[in-house]
Amino acid sequence: MPFPLDVPESVLRRRRSQKWVAYPEDVLPLFVAETDVLLAPAIRDRLAAAVADGDTGYFAEIERLSGVCARYYSRFGYDVPDDSVSVVPVNDVGVGVRESLARTLPAGSGVIYTPPVYMPFAPWLRRVGMSPVAVPLIDHDGEDPRLDLEGIERALADGARGVLLSHPHNPTGVVHSSDELAALADLAVEYGAVVVSDEIWAPLTMPGVEFRSFLAVSEAARGVGLAISSASKAFNLAGLKCAFVVNGNPERFEVRRSALSGAVGHFGALAAEAALTGSLDWLDDLRAALSSNLDLMEQLMAEHLPRARWRRPDAGFVAWIDLRAYPGLGDDPAAAFLDDGRVALSNGPAFGSQGKGFARVNFACSEELLTEAFTRMGRVAERRD
Ligand SMILES: Cc1ncc(COP(=O)(O)O)c(C=O)c1O
Repeated sequence: MPFPLDVPESVLRRRRSQKWVAYPEDVLPLFVAETDVLLAPAIRDRLAAAVADGDTGYFAEIERLSGVCARYYSRFGYDVPDDSVSVVPVNDVGVGVRESLARTLPAGSGVIYTPPVYMPFAPWLRRVGMSPVAVPLIDHDGEDPRLDLEGIERALADGARGVLLSHPHNPTGVVHSSDELAALADLAVEYGAVVVSDEIWAPLTMPGVEFRSFLAVSEAARGVGLAISSASKAFNLAGLKCAFVVNGNPERFEVRRSALSGAVGHFGALAAEAALTGSLDWLDDLRAALSSNLDLMEQLMAEHLPRARWRRPDAGFVAWIDLRAYPGLGDDPAAAFLDDGRVALSNGPAFGSQGKGFARVNFACSEELLTEAFTRMGRVAERRD
């Protein structure tokens, strides 16, 4: 059982986070994007010391955290300046995305997004008064999912003024190519649009895959772009509330620490520093374990769901499974697996109408859980055939 995905279920069942309380005990939870790891030792020790010292007051060290984030993020192809306007700590990626859009575009602007995609995107856009404009990925169900640049250009020509990317893309796990991102940046320049790139999954590339930030692909991209990331997915810190915006063009975009950084969680900041400076070997272990789980999934899929189709993700710990060859599972196979098999996946249609007949599996769990989940899912598929 590869470390660090080797935590026994009995330990996980003690957790009170969403993954472990949303369903009754007989359900195997492979849905929300939490990982079944214990904390990396440097994070655990830093938080334990803070607890021991009663260090539970307000977050204050904005510059220190910004420096940590700037130095870490520079590995993704753009030497991030560590100044007061280029790196803006925020309390989570959702806040970073929404505030980036709200502070750079007039209310009512059309903002393009790329379904099937992380389900809160359209509601997030509405929450800040924007109109979501869906331009679906091309080939989300095939070997080469990619941006529909022609569709994006049509939407920009029709008046849209923003693009919200998921890069790496949730749920397909695609790392968009630098060429398509550079072409997108050129379109944004031409139409006076802003590109907000949600890069929360950036630290979690599979071994051998390179991730480049949208801001790294060209000068034009920096002129039109903001990227938001966090240590939260890679190190399972979502509940601690810490993320950051990298502003490619602070002269143009007024996304400022003074307005946004006060709400960062103090524990989130302590954990992010321990993660992004002292836990990168641990992260490599996690990436190797996730890759090994993908090998296992290939076998499990062949054995239990041989008609299912999927593409190994380039990054992250979710896989987008096409179950349309099992019509008995219906438009929402995750609902069937939950009702009949007591396995909780994410519902495909929640990612957009393109997700009918699909489900998203979170594979950041032990081999035992993954094997048991696929065994149960195979039985459901057989019963409903
Ligand atoms: C693409 C994407 N963005 C944002 C989030 C949520 O981030 P946060 O909890 O920091 O708002 C997730 C969570 O899975 C995600 O997949």
